Amino acid sequence: MIVQEDHAVAGERPACAGAPVAEPLLSVKGVTLQYKTPEHLVTATYRVSFDVHRADRFVLLGPSGCGKSTLLKGVAGFVTPVEGSIELNGRAISRPGADRMMVFQEFDQLLPWKTVFQNVVFPMLVSGTCSRSEAKDRALAYIGKVNLLEFRDVYPHMLSGGMKQRVAIARAMAMEPDVLLMDEPFAALDALTRRRMQEELLQLWDDIRFTMLFVTHSIEEAIIIGSRILAMSPHPGQVRAELNTHDLGYSERDGAAFMALNRRIHDMLFSERTGGTGHDKPN
Ligand SMILES: Nc1ncnc2c1ncn2[C@@H]1O[C@H](COP(=O)(O)OP(=O)(O)OP(=O)(O)O)[C@@H](O)[C@H]1O
Ligand SMILES: [Mg+2]
Repeated sequence: MIVQEDHAVAGERPACAGAPVAEPLLSVKGVTLQYKTPEHLVTATYRVSFDVHRADRFVLLGPSGCGKSTLLKGVAGFVTPVEGSIELNGRAISRPGADRMMVFQEFDQLLPWKTVFQNVVFPMLVSGTCSRSEAKDRALAYIGKVNLLEFRDVYPHMLSGGMKQRVAIARAMAMEPDVLLMDEPFAALDALTRRRMQEELLQLWDDIRFTMLFVTHSIEEAIIIGSRILAMSPHPGQVRAELNTHDLGYSERDGAAFMALNRRIHDMLFSERTGGTGHDKPN
Protein backbone atom coordinates (compact mmCIF):
# COMPACT_ATOMS: atom_id res chain seq x y z
CA MET A 1 0.00 0.00 0.00
CA ILE A 2 1.11 3.58 0.46
CA VAL A 3 2.45 4.93 3.61
CA GLN A 4 5.90 3.82 2.96
CA GLU A 5 8.09 6.05 4.95
CA ASP A 6 9.90 7.23 1.85
CA HIS A 7 6.63 8.59 0.41
CA ALA A 8 6.25 10.73 3.48
CA VAL A 9 9.07 13.03 2.53
CA ALA A 10 8.13 16.55 1.60
CA GLY A 11 8.34 17.22 -2.08
CA GLU A 12 8.77 13.64 -3.17
CA ARG A 13 6.57 12.38 -5.96
CA PRO A 14 6.44 8.77 -7.09
CA ALA A 15 7.52 8.44 -10.70
CA CYS A 16 8.04 5.57 -13.12
CA ALA A 17 11.70 4.80 -13.51
CA GLY A 18 13.10 6.71 -16.45
CA ALA A 19 9.87 8.66 -17.09
CA PRO A 20 10.29 12.42 -17.48
CA VAL A 21 8.88 14.38 -14.53
CA ALA A 22 6.12 16.69 -15.79
CA GLU A 23 6.18 20.37 -14.88
CA PRO A 24 3.81 21.08 -12.03
CA LEU A 25 0.56 22.88 -12.81
CA LEU A 26 0.80 24.87 -9.60
CA SER A 27 4.06 25.58 -7.84
CA VAL A 28 4.21 27.14 -4.38
CA LYS A 29 7.77 27.99 -3.43
CA GLY A 30 8.86 29.19 0.01
CA VAL A 31 5.67 31.16 0.53
CA THR A 32 5.24 33.35 3.59
CA LEU A 33 1.84 34.99 3.90
CA GLN A 34 1.05 37.71 6.39
CA TYR A 35 -1.84 39.91 7.48
CA LYS A 36 -1.09 43.43 8.59
CA THR A 37 -3.58 44.99 10.96
CA PRO A 38 -3.09 48.39 12.64
CA GLU A 39 -2.03 46.60 15.85
CA HIS A 40 -0.47 43.33 14.66
CA LEU A 41 1.50 41.59 12.00
CA VAL A 42 0.16 38.02 11.72
CA THR A 43 2.32 35.46 9.96
CA ALA A 44 -0.17 32.90 8.65
CA THR A 45 2.25 30.62 6.75
CA TYR A 46 6.03 30.45 6.85
CA ARG A 47 8.06 29.33 3.83
CA VAL A 48 5.57 26.76 2.57
CA SER A 49 6.45 24.84 -0.58
CA PHE A 50 4.52 22.27 -2.61
CA ASP A 51 3.77 21.34 -6.19
CA VAL A 52 0.38 20.34 -7.57
CA HIS A 53 0.29 18.36 -10.79
CA ARG A 54 -2.62 17.98 -13.21
CA ALA A 55 -5.40 15.73 -11.87
CA ASP A 56 -3.92 15.73 -8.37
CA ARG A 57 -6.37 15.71 -5.49
CA PHE A 58 -4.07 17.73 -3.30
CA VAL A 59 -5.16 18.26 0.30
CA LEU A 60 -3.95 20.91 2.74
CA LEU A 61 -4.41 19.42 6.19
CA GLY A 62 -3.67 21.01 9.54
CA PRO A 63 -5.08 22.36 12.76
CA SER A 64 -7.23 25.46 12.96
CA GLY A 65 -5.27 28.64 12.35
CA CYS A 66 -2.32 27.00 10.54
CA GLY A 67 -3.00 29.05 7.42
CA LYS A 68 -4.85 26.62 5.13
CA SER A 69 -7.46 29.17 4.04
CA THR A 70 -4.78 31.83 3.70
CA LEU A 71 -2.81 29.55 1.36
CA LEU A 72 -5.93 29.03 -0.75
CA LYS A 73 -6.41 32.81 -0.82
CA GLY A 74 -2.80 33.13 -1.97
CA VAL A 75 -3.40 30.68 -4.82
CA ALA A 76 -6.69 32.43 -5.63
CA GLY A 77 -4.79 35.74 -5.87
CA PHE A 78 -6.50 37.50 -2.96
CA VAL A 79 -3.35 37.61 -0.78
CA THR A 80 0.17 38.32 -2.07
CA PRO A 81 3.19 36.50 -0.59
CA VAL A 82 5.69 38.63 1.32
CA GLU A 83 8.29 35.99 0.49
CA GLY A 84 8.42 33.22 -2.13
CA SER A 85 6.29 32.71 -5.21
CA ILE A 86 3.09 31.05 -6.41
CA GLU A 87 3.04 30.06 -10.07
CA LEU A 88 0.30 28.56 -12.19
CA ASN A 89 1.40 27.14 -15.54
CA GLY A 90 4.79 28.77 -14.97
CA ARG A 91 3.33 32.27 -14.50
CA ALA A 92 3.31 34.14 -11.19
CA ILE A 93 -0.17 34.61 -9.75
CA SER A 94 -0.81 38.30 -9.18
CA ARG A 95 -4.60 38.60 -9.09
CA PRO A 96 -7.77 36.50 -9.04
CA GLY A 97 -8.64 34.77 -12.31
CA ALA A 98 -11.15 32.45 -13.93
CA ASP A 99 -8.45 29.77 -14.11
CA ARG A 100 -8.88 29.30 -10.31
CA MET A 101 -12.39 28.86 -8.95
CA MET A 102 -13.17 28.61 -5.26
CA VAL A 103 -15.84 26.67 -3.36
CA PHE A 104 -16.32 27.84 0.22
CA GLN A 105 -17.64 26.19 3.37
CA GLU A 106 -20.61 28.54 3.72
CA PHE A 107 -23.99 27.54 2.31
CA ASP A 108 -24.81 31.16 1.42
CA GLN A 109 -22.31 31.52 -1.42
CA LEU A 110 -25.09 31.36 -4.05
CA LEU A 111 -26.98 34.41 -5.30
CA PRO A 112 -30.37 34.08 -3.55
CA TRP A 113 -32.33 35.87 -6.26
CA LYS A 114 -31.13 33.52 -9.00
CA THR A 115 -32.23 29.94 -9.67
CA VAL A 116 -29.83 27.00 -9.67
CA PHE A 117 -29.41 27.27 -13.44
CA GLN A 118 -28.95 31.06 -13.32
CA ASN A 119 -26.37 30.74 -10.53
CA VAL A 120 -24.33 28.25 -12.53
CA VAL A 121 -24.53 30.11 -15.83
CA PHE A 122 -23.88 33.59 -14.39
CA PRO A 123 -20.06 33.51 -13.93
CA MET A 124 -19.59 32.15 -17.45
CA LEU A 125 -21.69 34.99 -18.90
CA VAL A 126 -20.02 37.82 -16.94
CA SER A 127 -16.48 36.53 -17.45
CA GLY A 128 -17.04 35.89 -21.14
CA THR A 129 -15.18 32.57 -20.92
CA CYS A 130 -17.50 31.08 -23.55
CA SER A 131 -20.43 31.91 -25.80
CA ARG A 132 -23.95 32.24 -24.41
CA SER A 133 -25.12 28.97 -25.90
CA GLU A 134 -22.04 27.09 -24.71
CA ALA A 135 -22.53 28.57 -21.23
CA LYS A 136 -26.08 27.19 -21.16
CA ASP A 137 -24.94 23.78 -22.37
CA ARG A 138 -22.13 23.66 -19.83
CA ALA A 139 -24.42 24.79 -17.01
CA LEU A 140 -26.90 22.00 -17.74
CA ALA A 141 -24.12 19.44 -18.12
CA TYR A 142 -22.56 20.28 -14.75
CA ILE A 143 -25.91 20.58 -12.96
CA GLY A 144 -26.53 17.07 -14.31
CA LYS A 145 -23.16 15.87 -13.03
CA VAL A 146 -24.08 16.93 -9.50
CA ASN A 147 -27.52 15.27 -9.87
CA LEU A 148 -29.61 18.44 -9.62
CA LEU A 149 -31.22 18.68 -13.06
CA GLU A 150 -34.73 18.46 -11.63
CA PHE A 151 -33.91 21.42 -9.36
CA ARG A 152 -32.52 23.67 -12.09
CA ASP A 153 -35.33 26.25 -11.74
CA VAL A 154 -35.40 26.27 -7.95
CA TYR A 155 -34.06 29.14 -5.78
CA PRO A 156 -31.31 28.51 -3.19
CA HIS A 157 -33.59 28.95 -0.17
CA MET A 158 -35.50 25.86 -1.30
CA LEU A 159 -32.38 23.66 -1.24
CA SER A 160 -30.70 21.72 1.57
CA GLY A 161 -27.12 22.57 2.62
CA GLY A 162 -25.73 19.63 0.65
CA MET A 163 -27.69 20.64 -2.47
CA LYS A 164 -26.38 24.21 -2.20
CA GLN A 165 -22.83 22.88 -2.02
CA ARG A 166 -23.50 20.77 -5.12
CA VAL A 167 -24.64 23.91 -6.96
CA ALA A 168 -21.50 25.77 -5.81
CA ILE A 169 -19.36 22.88 -7.09
CA ALA A 170 -21.23 22.79 -10.42
CA ARG A 171 -20.87 26.57 -10.78
CA ALA A 172 -17.11 26.42 -10.16
CA MET A 173 -16.57 23.38 -12.39
CA ALA A 174 -18.61 24.80 -15.25
CA MET A 175 -15.95 27.49 -15.57
CA GLU A 176 -13.52 24.62 -16.28
CA PRO A 177 -10.74 26.19 -14.21
CA ASP A 178 -7.17 24.88 -14.20
CA VAL A 179 -7.54 24.22 -10.51
CA LEU A 180 -10.58 23.94 -8.27
CA LEU A 181 -9.98 25.45 -4.82
CA MET A 182 -12.17 23.97 -2.08
CA ASP A 183 -12.08 25.40 1.44
CA GLU A 184 -13.69 22.86 3.80
CA PRO A 185 -16.69 22.56 1.45
CA PHE A 186 -18.33 19.76 3.46
CA ALA A 187 -17.44 20.84 7.00
CA ALA A 188 -20.86 22.26 7.83
CA LEU A 189 -22.80 19.20 6.61
CA ASP A 190 -24.15 16.36 8.75
CA ALA A 191 -22.05 13.18 8.74
CA LEU A 192 -24.19 11.22 6.26
CA THR A 193 -24.47 14.06 3.76
CA ARG A 194 -20.77 14.77 4.12
CA ARG A 195 -19.97 11.16 3.31
CA ARG A 196 -22.27 11.23 0.26
CA MET A 197 -20.71 14.48 -0.96
CA GLN A 198 -17.21 13.04 -0.63
CA GLU A 199 -18.27 10.06 -2.72
CA GLU A 200 -19.90 12.25 -5.37
CA LEU A 201 -16.85 14.49 -5.57
CA LEU A 202 -14.63 11.45 -6.14
CA GLN A 203 -17.02 10.15 -8.80
CA LEU A 204 -16.91 13.53 -10.50
CA TRP A 205 -13.12 13.44 -10.36
CA ASP A 206 -13.13 9.93 -11.87
CA ASP A 207 -15.28 11.28 -14.67
CA ILE A 208 -13.45 14.56 -15.42
CA ARG A 209 -10.00 14.23 -13.78
CA PHE A 210 -9.86 17.87 -12.77
CA THR A 211 -7.19 19.25 -10.45
CA MET A 212 -8.24 20.18 -6.95
CA LEU A 213 -6.67 21.84 -3.97
CA PHE A 214 -8.83 20.81 -1.03
CA VAL A 215 -8.61 22.16 2.51
CA THR A 216 -9.75 20.20 5.54
CA HIS A 217 -8.82 19.71 9.15
CA SER A 218 -10.31 16.20 9.18
CA ILE A 219 -7.57 13.59 8.84
CA GLU A 220 -10.08 11.00 7.67
CA GLU A 221 -11.50 13.30 5.00
CA ALA A 222 -7.97 14.16 3.85
CA ILE A 223 -7.10 10.48 3.34
CA ILE A 224 -10.42 9.71 1.60
CA ILE A 225 -10.37 12.72 -0.74
CA GLY A 226 -6.66 13.20 -1.30
CA SER A 227 -4.17 11.61 -3.62
CA ARG A 228 -1.54 13.72 -1.86
CA ILE A 229 -1.67 15.38 1.53
CA LEU A 230 0.36 18.31 2.77
CA ALA A 231 0.37 18.07 6.56
CA MET A 232 0.92 21.48 8.14
CA SER A 233 2.13 22.40 11.62
CA PRO A 234 0.23 24.86 13.82
CA HIS A 235 0.45 28.60 13.53
CA PRO A 236 2.39 29.87 11.67
CA GLY A 237 1.76 27.09 9.17
CA GLN A 238 4.77 25.21 7.91
CA VAL A 239 5.08 21.98 5.98
CA ARG A 240 5.33 19.03 8.34
CA ALA A 241 5.24 16.32 5.66
CA GLU A 242 3.89 15.49 2.24
CA LEU A 243 2.17 12.14 1.96
CA ASN A 244 1.16 10.05 -0.97
CA THR A 245 -2.32 8.61 -0.34
CA HIS A 246 -3.69 7.88 -3.80
CA ASP A 247 -4.44 4.23 -3.01
CA LEU A 248 -6.35 4.79 0.21
CA GLY A 249 -10.03 5.69 0.06
CA TYR A 250 -13.30 5.18 1.87
CA SER A 251 -13.42 1.43 1.23
CA GLU A 252 -10.06 1.01 2.97
CA ARG A 253 -11.27 3.00 5.97
CA ASP A 254 -11.39 0.07 8.36
CA GLY A 255 -8.16 -1.46 7.11
CA ALA A 256 -4.85 -1.48 8.94
CA ALA A 257 -3.07 0.82 6.48
CA PHE A 258 -5.74 3.52 6.69
CA MET A 259 -5.86 3.40 10.47
CA ALA A 260 -2.07 3.40 10.80
CA LEU A 261 -1.79 6.43 8.53
CA ASN A 262 -4.59 8.19 10.40
CA ARG A 263 -2.76 7.62 13.68
CA ARG A 264 0.57 8.66 12.22
CA ILE A 265 -0.79 11.92 10.83
CA HIS A 266 -2.54 12.58 14.12
CA ASP A 267 0.75 12.13 16.02
CA MET A 268 2.57 14.24 13.47
CA LEU A 269 0.11 17.13 13.73
CA PHE A 270 -0.71 17.10 17.40
CA SER A 271 2.33 15.77 19.25
CA GLU A 272 4.81 18.22 20.72
CA ARG A 273 7.52 16.34 18.89
CA THR A 274 8.59 18.27 15.78
CA GLY A 275 9.28 15.21 13.61
CA GLY A 276 12.22 14.86 11.25
CA THR A 277 11.15 16.22 7.90
CA GLY A 278 13.39 19.25 7.83
CA HIS A 279 10.32 21.47 7.59
CA ASP A 280 9.81 22.16 11.23
CA LYS A 281 9.73 25.54 12.86
CA PRO A 282 13.01 27.38 13.02
CA ASN A 283 14.37 27.91 16.50
N1 LIG B 1 -8.21 38.82 7.59
C1 LIG B 1 -7.33 38.51 8.56
N2 LIG B 1 -6.69 39.46 9.27
C2 LIG B 1 -5.79 39.15 10.22
N3 LIG B 1 -5.44 37.89 10.54
C3 LIG B 1 -6.03 36.89 9.87
C4 LIG B 1 -7.02 37.13 8.85
N4 LIG B 1 -7.44 35.94 8.35
C5 LIG B 1 -6.77 35.01 9.04
N5 LIG B 1 -5.93 35.56 9.95
C6 LIG B 1 -5.00 34.86 10.84
O1 LIG B 1 -4.10 34.08 10.04
C7 LIG B 1 -3.88 32.80 10.63
C8 LIG B 1 -4.26 31.73 9.65
O2 LIG B 1 -5.67 31.79 9.43
P1 LIG B 1 -6.42 30.83 8.41
O3 LIG B 1 -7.84 31.28 8.34
O4 LIG B 1 -5.66 30.77 7.13
O5 LIG B 1 -6.30 29.43 9.16
P2 LIG B 1 -6.98 28.02 8.80
O6 LIG B 1 -5.89 27.00 8.81
O7 LIG B 1 -7.78 28.14 7.57
O8 LIG B 1 -7.91 27.79 10.07
P3 LIG B 1 -9.38 27.08 10.16
O9 LIG B 1 -9.13 25.58 10.11
O10 LIG B 1 -9.88 27.52 11.50
O11 LIG B 1 -10.22 27.58 9.03
C9 LIG B 1 -4.68 32.80 11.94
O12 LIG B 1 -3.83 33.13 12.97
C10 LIG B 1 -5.73 33.86 11.71
O13 LIG B 1 -6.08 34.45 12.93
MG1 LIG C 1 -9.81 28.00 7.15
